[in-house]
Amino acid sequence: MIPVLEPFLGEDELNNVVEAVKSSWISSQGKFIGDFEEGFSNYHRVKHGVSTSNGTAALHLALKSLDIGKGDEVLVPTLTFAATANAVIYCNAEPVFVDSHPEYWCMDPYSLEEKVTSRTKAIIPVHLYGHPCDMDPIMDVAEDHDLYVVEDAAEAHGALYKGKKVGTFGDISCYSFYGNKIITTGEGGICITNDDSLEDKMRILRDHGMNTSKRYWHDVIGFNYRMTNLQAAIGVAQLQKLDQFIAKKRKIASYYQQMLKDLVDDGLIILHPEMSWANCVYWIYCILIEDKFNLKRDNVITELLSRKIDTRPFFYPITDMDPYQKVPLPHAEELSRKGLSLPSSINLDYEDISKITDELKSIR
Ligand SMILES: Cc1ncc(COP(=O)(O)O)c(C=O)c1O
Repeated sequence: MIPVLEPFLGEDELNNVVEAVKSSWISSQGKFIGDFEEGFSNYHRVKHGVSTSNGTAALHLALKSLDIGKGDEVLVPTLTFAATANAVIYCNAEPVFVDSHPEYWCMDPYSLEEKVTSRTKAIIPVHLYGHPCDMDPIMDVAEDHDLYVVEDAAEAHGALYKGKKVGTFGDISCYSFYGNKIITTGEGGICITNDDSLEDKMRILRDHGMNTSKRYWHDVIGFNYRMTNLQAAIGVAQLQKLDQFIAKKRKIASYYQQMLKDLVDDGLIILHPEMSWANCVYWIYCILIEDKFNLKRDNVITELLSRKIDTRPFFYPITDMDPYQKVPLPHAEELSRKGLSLPSSINLDYEDISKITDELKSIR
């Protein structure tokens, strides 16, 4: 079976974990935590990194530190993993959903303005499937209406917008290091920011809201969102390989582009986009199955599975699901219906991609 995504771990990760275990610092103190926070923020040339137990906690922590709360609205794309919207709901605020740009699948910046009300406090652009959002028009709307921007870069470590790393545009940017992400800590996340006071606030909220100079004294209600030294030990080793992993993701994308060209020429599929202003990191390589294809997307998934190739459908639009506000957002609905994510693990080679694309072609 070729899985959709699996982590790529080696001796360095193992040695760091052994070192952490031998040091007996296995909870949320220990040298790897600071090293990982510093390494990740330096990679982005951003002042601070506040690591967290996972990416959802990072989003929640970011929004809490910006005092997002009851009565506030936050603009969120409907085509994303549910955690983006859930973090808003955890704050008792309301996610207001925005349609996708049909060409590159992220939040459409030109449908933001019409959603802004006097209650809007923030925008969460999600760099979906490794492709950056169009940040200039998003930042313009934020500036015009005095809104915070929290980037959700869980799927786009190291992606570039007009040559600048994603995660460096917003007030705070959040990442996930879940096992299927470009780099992993098992479970894990981080918030990065240039703002000293937001960093302080996030560190306090992450640690139960405890006063930093008076132990067991709580000025605010916080959370336990700390990363462990064991997670950070893996993260430090993974971070060394991030650029190498991105280069490999782009190589895999180039194989798919070459090998799927005839399906594109026949109008049967659309390839993962990369806009002229973008450097996509292709966290997971995606295609759209057009209506002319012999099988519907879900049948393609079943067929490929029977040939030992695991794939994933796109996310459902959040606005299609019962716990959330239901709104028709047509571009996201069409993308969700047609979108298919193909195996994209770092260890795949030319022959693997060739097998996957041959099987896909055989059911065209
Ligand atoms: C866009 C997006 N945001 C947030 C998350 C949540 O991260 P985690 O699973 O680490 O909580 C994920 C993925 O898992 C994601 O894909």
